[in-house]
Amino acid sequence: MPGDLERGRLKLQWARDHMPVLGAIRRRFEAERPLAGLTVSAVLHVEAKTCVLALALQSAGAEVRLAAGNPLSTDDDAVAAVREAGVTTFAEKGESLGAYRAGLEALLAADPDVIVDDGADLVARVHERGDRGRIRGSTEETTTGVTRLRALERSGRLLFPAIVVNDADMKHLFDNRYGTGQSVIDGVLTATNLLLAGKVAVVAGYGWSGKGVAARLRGLGADVVVTEVDPVRALEARLDGFRVMPMLDAAPLAQLIVTVTGSTGVVRAEHVKVLRDGCLLANAGHFDVEVSRTDLEGLAVAHRTVRPYVEEYRFADGRTVYLLGEGRLINLAAGQGHPVEIMDLSFALQALSVEHLARHGSGMAPKVHPVPAEIDRAVAEAALAPFGVGLDALTDEQVRYRDSWTEGT
Ligand code: ADE
Repeated sequence: MPGDLERGRLKLQWARDHMPVLGAIRRRFEAERPLAGLTVSAVLHVEAKTCVLALALQSAGAEVRLAAGNPLSTDDDAVAAVREAGVTTFAEKGESLGAYRAGLEALLAADPDVIVDDGADLVARVHERGDRGRIRGSTEETTTGVTRLRALERSGRLLFPAIVVNDADMKHLFDNRYGTGQSVIDGVLTATNLLLAGKVAVVAGYGWSGKGVAARLRGLGADVVVTEVDPVRALEARLDGFRVMPMLDAAPLAQLIVTVTGSTGVVRAEHVKVLRDGCLLANAGHFDVEVSRTDLEGLAVAHRTVRPYVEEYRFADGRTVYLLGEGRLINLAAGQGHPVEIMDLSFALQALSVEHLARHGSGMAPKVHPVPAEIDRAVAEAALAPFGVGLDALTDEQVRYRDSWTEGT
């Protein structure tokens, strides 16, 4: 459905007003125009904050094209407003898989100089095509995309430099932890309007996002259980005070399961068979493969949508479970995505990384690259400024001490 332009303008204005770090970058971009003459193709969750990033890149002189990062994550109002501002956009909430793929193709057809990706689908398309074209490099927003890029790098087939924004401190420590933590709650509550206090909530995966979700669920009074495949993370969860157990043991207890693993088949037939009656199933990982819809459909005797973003599956033994947001990222499918201030930091890193590729990409090796340390630090300093937090500075003696290997006992 076409979005409402006036509502979209107001949403973009609200986001822009709460994104001061990206705002300062945009003002510098307007003056310096570091992307003049370049085309940037971005596959992102097209909502208001993303549009603020797109317009910042446009202010730097780029021709910007946007496509949806997920069939359910688009805000049609924001699309109307960003289109009005001149950004060619291929995104509509609820679009078909065919439309999603057509969006990716349209972005490649524009012969981009720089790619901004979230989940690495666009980069994967370029590599299936086997021709880098004019692409100087790409940036990647999320853990799943970084995992795919590293696999591509290991295969020896990565065609251009890829800056992994997700791995910057100013990204995963804040976006994954506090962003996902809060926005998953937003999505689950919007979809269900149910109480979290007192519920047994199982969080699958204790990476940075899982840690955030577990902490926020505990904050709302849920009895949180963590499942993990990694012994270090399992120990971390245990010492953070959570019960840790295999999913097969957790499923019969769970009233809510949130998958945040980046893996596939985390809740599958063997778990579905023992799920507690009434259990809510939500996914916060990038792709909709963490809760097996195929297994739910295969085992259920009845299936219907009972409210927006809530599908009910009934089994022969009388149990009912509910899949939220079609098993897609619940924070964007039913919620509004990460808080604005968090996306300010992540998209500031994106904007500066795109600039870095525009200036230096041609000379960078076709490898996975971290966000340059000076970019991470600049975003941290800018984000800290409004808090009025002062920092200590190392004395000369402390610098000498830090840089010396001879000083010890
Ligand atoms: N809003 C825009 N991009 C997002 C992302 N990757 N995660 C959550 N909210 C977002």
